[in-house]
Amino acid sequence: MPNPLFGRDVVSIRDFTRSDLETLFNTATKISNMPSRERRRLADGRLLGLIFYEPSSRTKLSFESAMYSIGGGSIGITDPSTSSIEKGENFTDTVIVVSGYVDVLAIRHPREGAARYAASISEKPVINAGSGAEEHPTQAMLDLYTIYREKGRIDGLTVGIMGDLRYSRTIYSLLYALSKYDTKIRLISPPELRLRSDALIDIHKSSWIQHISISEVISELDVLYVTRIQKERFPDPTEYQKVKGSYYVDASILEQGKSDLIVLHPLPRVDEIRPEVDRLPQAKYFLQAKLGRDLRAALLALILNPEL
Ligand code: NCD
Repeated sequence: MPNPLFGRDVVSIRDFTRSDLETLFNTATKISNMPSRERRRLADGRLLGLIFYEPSSRTKLSFESAMYSIGGGSIGITDPSTSSIEKGENFTDTVIVVSGYVDVLAIRHPREGAARYAASISEKPVINAGSGAEEHPTQAMLDLYTIYREKGRIDGLTVGIMGDLRYSRTIYSLLYALSKYDTKIRLISPPELRLRSDALIDIHKSSWIQHISISEVISELDVLYVTRIQKERFPDPTEYQKVKGSYYVDASILEQGKSDLIVLHPLPRVDEIRPEVDRLPQAKYFLQAKLGRDLRAALLALILNPEL
């Protein structure tokens, strides 16, 4: 039997079971402890293709570095203005052509549904590296992996999710992923940035409560996940002005929390986590970004190797 992730598209975290995620986390830990010569055989001579229609630092670099760490290479279009997209080439043709050059694709696109569509026309597995405000499944995978590594479990935890719940795709993937576990969820945002109602159906099974202020819930939390306001996704800039700077985490808020609380953030951070938090033991967002490479290396290795 091939491993359960072999040859799979990664479009939505909803397509993955708890058992798939456990395989992924165990493989990430296994790969990070492998001698480099053995690790570099996992994608020897294989290529990852990146098609990014939106800006990216971590996702792009961690995918490239992950592929390199298991012996493969990457090519990509990460600045559409320097590719044939600028000449008018459409998304369909770009995906079909690049999928003929590589073994697996990672795609970031401003439109919801773009990754699902790309997977339907690509010859090779497609990984969704962010589809509009919809989902960012590999971010949720690395978020859960970080929680699992730090807490030793996911079941039984109380997770606070604070920030732009309306437009943060990372939050939707994280909520869908957490709903596979027995967690308590506390949503913290100004009223204007509450979850979109279209997503509630999928998370109705988790126990969640909506709050406006972090101080109402901080003492209950095991994990606090923060996101920036997704300025670029606001249909009206005046709506952004109304909520700008409306929430933040600082050292004095964390003093009211449990001593083993961990603070995560998908990054980039703007002003929602004050720099003074970086030197506190609760700050795990840079570790989270680092673990993202191991997690993505495991995901690529599992997609490419039936026997792993
Ligand atoms: C996130 C994204 O692109 O959705 N970034 C990332 O991949 N780490 C979060 C964000 O942009 O705020």
